[in-house]
Amino acid sequence: MDMNVGVIGSGTMGTGIAQVAASSGCKVKIYDNQPQALEKCRKSIQGSLQKMLEKGKISQNEAEQLFGRISFIGDLTALNDSDIVIEAIIENIAVKSTLFSNLEHIVSENCILASNTSSLSIASIAASCKKAERVIGIHFFNPAQLMQLVEIIPAIQTSDATTEQALRIISSWNKIPVLAKDTPGFIVNRLARPFYGEALRIYEEGIADFATIDHAMKHFGGFRMGPFELMDFIGNDINYTVTESVFTAFYFDPRYKPSFTQKRMIEAGYLGRKSGRGYYDYAEGAAMPKAAEDESLGKDIFARILVMLINEAAEALHLNIATARDLDLAMTKGVNYPKGLLHWANEIGIDFCVDKLDELYHNYHEDRYRCSVLFRKMKAEGRKFEIN
Ligand code: NAI
Repeated sequence: MDMNVGVIGSGTMGTGIAQVAASSGCKVKIYDNQPQALEKCRKSIQGSLQKMLEKGKISQNEAEQLFGRISFIGDLTALNDSDIVIEAIIENIAVKSTLFSNLEHIVSENCILASNTSSLSIASIAASCKKAERVIGIHFFNPAQLMQLVEIIPAIQTSDATTEQALRIISSWNKIPVLAKDTPGFIVNRLARPFYGEALRIYEEGIADFATIDHAMKHFGGFRMGPFELMDFIGNDINYTVTESVFTAFYFDPRYKPSFTQKRMIEAGYLGRKSGRGYYDYAEGAAMPKAAEDESLGKDIFARILVMLINEAAEALHLNIATARDLDLAMTKGVNYPKGLLHWANEIGIDFCVDKLDELYHNYHEDRYRCSVLFRKMKAEGRKFEIN
């Protein structure tokens, strides 16, 4: 699609999004209010193109053309000819609202205004615009150049025409769009919570150590990384902030309760790989702990975390957060799960999932383990999830 794209915020996400749009032939203007951030973005895109060139993924000519389609701008009014503007600035509603209301006076009537926010409601951002029907959430995953999934989140104010156009644009950028309701965590950041939360809980109860839990999820589940490895990779500070924001936004639903274990890790400065230490020690020569060799324990851990993940997906389907197809696509394409969660439920059996959840609920009497009503109904009717 030949169009003019504006990107605001030239940090991690803005840089990736600008490159994605330019790769598909769009002319991109990227704006930041910090000149040094723009310079870093320019270097990062050049570096990324150089790597692609060395790997033979693009020719010299293609790299030059692609880079030539991106301009780095320090003046917001230069976005006046944009067909779509995607905002990827600091995660702060007051700052975003000011930006959107200023932007509305710069762009044309038909320009789509999108936010890449992970945790703010799209309705609250759209409310800062007079023409709120053209505002939408377009949520990329990091690194945007590589991750195929993009969540499209219409606010209650958003028009169908805006949503359809956003879906068309993202597909034309060779990404896989999924449609999500404007609810906390959208799809991925909501459905993935038990992967971390239940793993932390199992550890806190003394059932197993980090290495054993990680091994169980990789060996029995086929996940590329275990929960603790992944939290160390993402950064405990970032991962905890997402959990806390989802927990707060869901009015403190115990299903999303953050963990003291993770909080203490942050307080101690054990952020993960980036600080050299997290659940594991990343110092050179440090020995990685070994997982306990206990197959039945490993299978139990995997089953407990998996049914909690599946229950989250079932509840999201029940509450019309997205279609079954989009819920499954989101997890396989957004966070590389080996299978979609609803597909997985069909495979291991709805009866098994409901019984396992009921067993947990019976043991703990905690709301966190409540089984989705949809699931229970499906068990009674002998139905499977229909994913198409
Ligand atoms: P970042 O901190 O890397 O970049 C933000 C950039 O915005 C900085 O260069 C900063 O100078 C600029 N900025 C701040 N206020 C501005 C303003 N008023 N006008 C113009 N530029 C301004 O942040 P990152 O990680 O790229 O995140 C950006 C947005 O994307 C946030 O809303 C975040 O929640 C969301 N997001 C982040 C993901 C991640 O993994 N980092 C994934 C998906 C969404």
